[in-house]
Amino acid sequence: MMRNIAVVGTGYVGLVTGVCLSDIGHHVTCIDIDEQKIQLLKQGKSPIYEPGLEELMLKNINNGRLTFTTDHQTGFHQKEVIYIAVGTPQKKDGSADLSYVHQVARDIARNIKQDVIVVTKSTVPVGTNDEIRQVIKENLVSDVQVDVVSNPEFLREGSAVQDTFHGDRIVIGADNEKAATMIEEINKPFGIPVVKTDIRSAEMIKYASNAFLATKISFINEISNICEKLGANIEDVAYGMGLDHRIGNQFLRAGIGYGGSCFPKDTKALVQMAGNVDHKFELLESVIRVNNVQQAKLVEKAKGFFGSLEGKTVAILGLAFKPNTDDMREAASVVIANMLIQEGARIKGYDPIALENAKRILGDSIEYSDNIEDVLADADIAFISTEWKEIVEFELHLYSKYMKTPIVFDGRNCYALEEVEKHDLEYHSIGRPS
Ligand code: UGA
Repeated sequence: MMRNIAVVGTGYVGLVTGVCLSDIGHHVTCIDIDEQKIQLLKQGKSPIYEPGLEELMLKNINNGRLTFTTDHQTGFHQKEVIYIAVGTPQKKDGSADLSYVHQVARDIARNIKQDVIVVTKSTVPVGTNDEIRQVIKENLVSDVQVDVVSNPEFLREGSAVQDTFHGDRIVIGADNEKAATMIEEINKPFGIPVVKTDIRSAEMIKYASNAFLATKISFINEISNICEKLGANIEDVAYGMGLDHRIGNQFLRAGIGYGGSCFPKDTKALVQMAGNVDHKFELLESVIRVNNVQQAKLVEKAKGFFGSLEGKTVAILGLAFKPNTDDMREAASVVIANMLIQEGARIKGYDPIALENAKRILGDSIEYSDNIEDVLADADIAFISTEWKEIVEFELHLYSKYMKTPIVFDGRNCYALEEVEKHDLEYHSIGRPS
């Protein structure tokens, strides 16, 4: 059944959610306080790089099911369900900043004139939905009923649209069956299995899932560090482990650690959450420490190889935190660049789409290039920090053609060792014999 839905926040979670809900037949209004962003969205332009998103936006704007506004009153008018999808940035102490979420709760309370279900998509600490309910209750101006539901998202950047239509599960945390059923009905066209729980368990599923995936990555990275010392090959080890269904073959790719807007933030927030109830989450604290060390790995390896990096020209290949996104948040490349600046190296950075965002973070402390040949020209060392297709498919003989000295430190194991051996290349990767 078609429902009238509002989505507050047009970041990648909110926008993808709103667009996909309109695509399965609902009437959706996306609300954001950012006037410029809303203007852009009205024209069918996506402010984020997300494959497939603009096509779906345009389609549903044109068929009248998707609209955008900055005005809460207009946006909430006659809506049966309101999704909260605003950011929960990290505070200095690692905990989540909930001020945007609370603001939306107040906006809802002050503007609605009909019963609604408020659905929290934003990643929020366990107990936040109870707070949201409380804030709404305290600020309500009409005599209406408001239910609160936790419905965390599991989208990956770069494949968010695909993940919305083909996710593994939809988690619905509610304290009454009617609200849970309504959200289940809304999502039915996606045809994805639904897990219904109480609100706090749903909130925890999100954190526990991200923390577990981060743990898998730090685990395989630690094994790769030991492999390097003992002469084993992490690729074969991960393959052999992953065939065991209880382990699974995903998220066992060793490299220079995880980044992005989710894993670093959510792992720290979960440690903080546990600390608040007097539980020291030792395992997750180690996962975070291992990741910090891992992000610095290439520079440490290069320092071991050269002694000093002062005056060296270093090309960083790939700046985004992972391929198929322009997101630079918590990217290993930033850690690498900052370390190299300290070392007194000259740094050149290449990325197929993240250059604008990279410039915002790294400014003119490095030089930028939008093609691999340019970035390699005259370089003494190349660091691969993101496994972009362009980099994986780059022909190996070209390193020695463009670089001053063909020395490559590959943080994402982009090339098969048998291939590397055929070329005149000093090559170091992660957890493999060099
Ligand atoms: C992650 C989760 O995968 C999503 O399920 C979740 O919804 C999202 O966070 C979120 O909380 O919003 P995302 O941050 O987009 O999604 O990226 P991933 O594809 O999970 O990659 C995260 C990081 O792990 C990347 O830096 C990637 O390079 C690294 N990674 C991933 C590895 O180092 N090894 C692997 O085997 C897999």
